[in-house]
Amino acid sequence: MVNLSISFFFVFLLTALPWTRTLDAKKTVICRRHCRKQTVTKIQFYFHDTITGKNPSAIKVAEAPSSANSPTLFGTVSIADDPLTETPDPKSKEVGRAQGLYSSAAQQEVGLLMTLTYVFTAGKFNGSSVVIVGKNSIMNKVRELPVVGGTGAFRFARGYALASTYWANNVGDAIVGYNLTVIH
Ligand SMILES: *[C@@H]1O[C@H](CO)[C@@H](O)[C@H](O)[C@H]1NC(C)=O
Ligand SMILES: *[C@@H]1O[C@H](CO)[C@@H](O)[C@H](O)[C@H]1NC(C)=O
Repeated sequence: MVNLSISFFFVFLLTALPWTRTLDAKKTVICRRHCRKQTVTKIQFYFHDTITGKNPSAIKVAEAPSSANSPTLFGTVSIADDPLTETPDPKSKEVGRAQGLYSSAAQQEVGLLMTLTYVFTAGKFNGSSVVIVGKNSIMNKVRELPVVGGTGAFRFARGYALASTYWANNVGDAIVGYNLTVIH
């Protein structure tokens, strides 16, 4: 009996009209502040992923016992702090860093799960960042990756990146061109 009246009390709370109104009102305010001032920004940069040499920018931190025998290196996890530059030339102006993890998450192709924050360190977006999470089938000419959020100028960001390998060697170092389209 006591339990029953407690349940009725919660059902009453959840369905009470003032509660619903409050939620709706908050939603409207969020939209007034942010939905009307959205802009679309397009940014192009080059991502330098260096896994060899004295100063690698991406390092393997984990793998499964079977990863070394997998043709797709399934199960390996790397941490990257990769420079982003204005042109494909590694000596060109650095405009940001891609920091985070990528892991080999496909067994039938070389497919990475990218979970990286792209932090801009120069120009108009200095200090702002976008987060990209998604599948990167690195053998494909063009890969589309979702932008799932951001900070600073890119608060509430959503969008996509088109990534295309500009250069790669046979040990896995690569320079990848990114075209970002972001609504924020
Ligand atoms: C980017 O912002 C940081 C922190 O505010 C500042 O120290 C740095 O000089 C800025 N860099 C450029 C290239 O504007
Ligand atoms: C990125 O944009 C440039 C300039 O518009 C274009 O030449 C290039 O093909 C684009 N790359 C991708 C992967 O979409």
